[in-house]
Amino acid sequence: MALLPILVYPDPRLHTVARPVQEVDARVKKLVAQMLETMYDANGIGLAATQVDVHERLVVVDVSDERNQPLVLINPEIVWASAEKQVSDEGCLSVPGIYDGVERAQAVKIKALDELGHPRTIEAEGTLAVCIQHEMDHLLGKVFVEYLSPLKRNRIKTKMLKARRETVRA
Ligand code: NI
Repeated sequence: MALLPILVYPDPRLHTVARPVQEVDARVKKLVAQMLETMYDANGIGLAATQVDVHERLVVVDVSDERNQPLVLINPEIVWASAEKQVSDEGCLSVPGIYDGVERAQAVKIKALDELGHPRTIEAEGTLAVCIQHEMDHLLGKVFVEYLSPLKRNRIKTKMLKARRETVRA
């Protein structure tokens, strides 16, 4: 199965707000399989459909060391978030090479459909909670660098655009 191209910040398509998945049909199942393959190939712990230019509410995640515990969240909704926060260094397959601290809820409870279309409730904390919140932000058109200061964000933007120009020249 072919890998999907990942959009790179500051691609404006990363700011698209995703619409709900209407039905977990063969098309969606194929997309899930392709997104998982793309995430594993890129050594990421999460990937949102937005990042592969599909603007539907669907994310895949795997924070296990063995890379064998895929979690598929279709139409995810956060139904509870802890008041307790944590700051951790985040990275993103759409912002390669950049890592910086972001504050998020330490624990969250999510309702979503799984890859078979069955409703599930997931309680997550620590890295998994951070990863899910990061991926769900993508579905709202938000990239983690938007939590950083405008100065940092502009530096990152410049660096990404420069890297892209060099790729085009190569
Ligand atoms: Ni990301």
